[in-house]
Amino acid sequence: MCGIIGYVGNKSCLPFLLEGLDALEYRGYDSAGVSLAYGDGIDTVKSKGKLAVLREKLEELSPPISFCGIGHTRWATHGEPSDINSHPHVTPALTLVHNGIIENHASIARELVERGVSFISDTDTERAAYLIDLCYSECKDPVEAIFKATKMLSGSFAFGVIFKDRPECIYAVRRDSPLIVGQSENGCFLASDVPAILPHTNICCRLDEGVVAELRGDGISFFSAPYTRIEQKFEEIKWSPEQAQKGGYAHFMIKEIHEEPMALRRTLEHINRDGLPYFEGAERLLREARSIKMVACGTAMHACLIGKHMIEKLARIPVSVEIASEFRYGEQIFDGGSLTLLLSQSGETADTVAALRRAKELGIPTLAIVNVFGSTLAREADEVIYTLAGPEISVASTKAYSLQCAILSALAISLSLIRGRTDEESAKALFGSLLSDLPRLVDEVLAKEKEIVRVTDKIYSAEHLFYIGRGIDYYLALEASLKLKEISYIHSEAYPSGELKHGTISLVSDGTPIVALITDSSLVEKSLLAVHEVISRGAKVTVICTDRISREHELPECEKIILPDAPEHLLPVVTATAIQLLAYFTATKKGLDVDKPRNLAKSVTVE
Ligand code: AGP
Repeated sequence: MCGIIGYVGNKSCLPFLLEGLDALEYRGYDSAGVSLAYGDGIDTVKSKGKLAVLREKLEELSPPISFCGIGHTRWATHGEPSDINSHPHVTPALTLVHNGIIENHASIARELVERGVSFISDTDTERAAYLIDLCYSECKDPVEAIFKATKMLSGSFAFGVIFKDRPECIYAVRRDSPLIVGQSENGCFLASDVPAILPHTNICCRLDEGVVAELRGDGISFFSAPYTRIEQKFEEIKWSPEQAQKGGYAHFMIKEIHEEPMALRRTLEHINRDGLPYFEGAERLLREARSIKMVACGTAMHACLIGKHMIEKLARIPVSVEIASEFRYGEQIFDGGSLTLLLSQSGETADTVAALRRAKELGIPTLAIVNVFGSTLAREADEVIYTLAGPEISVASTKAYSLQCAILSALAISLSLIRGRTDEESAKALFGSLLSDLPRLVDEVLAKEKEIVRVTDKIYSAEHLFYIGRGIDYYLALEASLKLKEISYIHSEAYPSGELKHGTISLVSDGTPIVALITDSSLVEKSLLAVHEVISRGAKVTVICTDRISREHELPECEKIILPDAPEHLLPVVTATAIQLLAYFTATKKGLDVDKPRNLAKSVTVE
């Protein structure tokens, strides 16, 4: 996710651009830049780092007043965060900002190189900019050039473009990435999202796919292919600027949970090669792995446990999971053929980075699964796989965890094929259900909000609570428990159901709240034994299980959250959404600041 802003009108554009970028920084913050158009050319200033770095640079340069400009705040997906890879990207004829991913960038680059183009950045965006430039050099019409070039692009994009010989206009187009335009008495605005322009206008239009908008100081024209002038519908936005930044949701956490289906589609499509998961660059490491040590912290470590379960089950490769802060000082015994797999949303967690360096010192191959492009882990690991969750703002990790579980499931399928544990047809069927069924199933869980909110009545006033489960449900219970405690401040413990009788059950008395996760169909009877045991000691139980389990087994009379049925390798992600919602609604019922829980930081970059 990146943020785009543009303004053309009768006022100096730079303050509008910077204010807009400020409001969009939640969409990406590894670099930022602006292009300011003048009658005799375009000035572009950009820099790696947060917006503050760009502001400083602009203050030093103090560019002349311009009335037409575009700006960008970046969340890298191709090419590490750097000055050169930052947007806008400049070609001889134009300057361009982009949000999205151009999937066929490599083939486009090849064709452009044959025609004499040389690139200076590593980005997919620069390729698209040159493609539009080329089309423009042939037709000399901005709208036609954009139609022609975008027809050749696959992937997602929202573009803002200024042509050097049309410095009084901004052109915009989008596919699968958001883009809005708005108009005020002082000019016209372009943005990825409403908050960037809400202080100036609340009359906005969400650009339809494939429609090219031409923004001038005095109005906006819309064109559809083949070159027909059309009308677009404007609407009145009734949100406050703060509400708008959260997309109308009360908190980033709930917004991010709702982004899961889209982020899953994006991440899984990215690794889809002819119906099979493909991990570019990492294939050799995967082929050579005889055992895997997974290392991470917090929620990412819980995702490792899900990965362990999947990889051992599908690929029969032994996997151990270690907390990074323990790994870095522990005795490490590796056999030949070991692979260290490091997981992190931020890619900057100090303990995980230290663990990576330790593994490298020991000469063990390292593979990182990371959400932040160009982060320390991504740069230093031998190979990297990205989850494409976009920026996660809320301290409580939700969509990143769900994507980590999904990508590990895909990794397990790939390893099982490599190890000859499955044939291509079955691997395709397993991966196919991840691709097509998982986002839909997560949507179904999101629709169960009311059911989940009802359960929070039973737990929000508790001081202590237990999550219990067996097998993979225990691993999920660990994450459910962490999520609940970090944002609701309820003391929560996750316990393997079968282990309760060895001590912990002495804590269960009248009214003790217990949430039992029962999604593993092979362990239902065993899980129910524990549930009956705690009920007979007075526990107030809530069961989270699948629809099928609720129909085929006699469950106790208690609160229930019924999940949609799903194949085994999809269930962790389906369950994850439910436990995230349960934590979220419990914390909001207590009136807590969900996005910024006390004592916690989003990224723990110190030991
Ligand atoms: C989870 O909600 C946490 N905020 C925390 O446990 C987090 O997952 C952990 O600090 C690891 O962060 P990372 O994924 O950025 O490495």
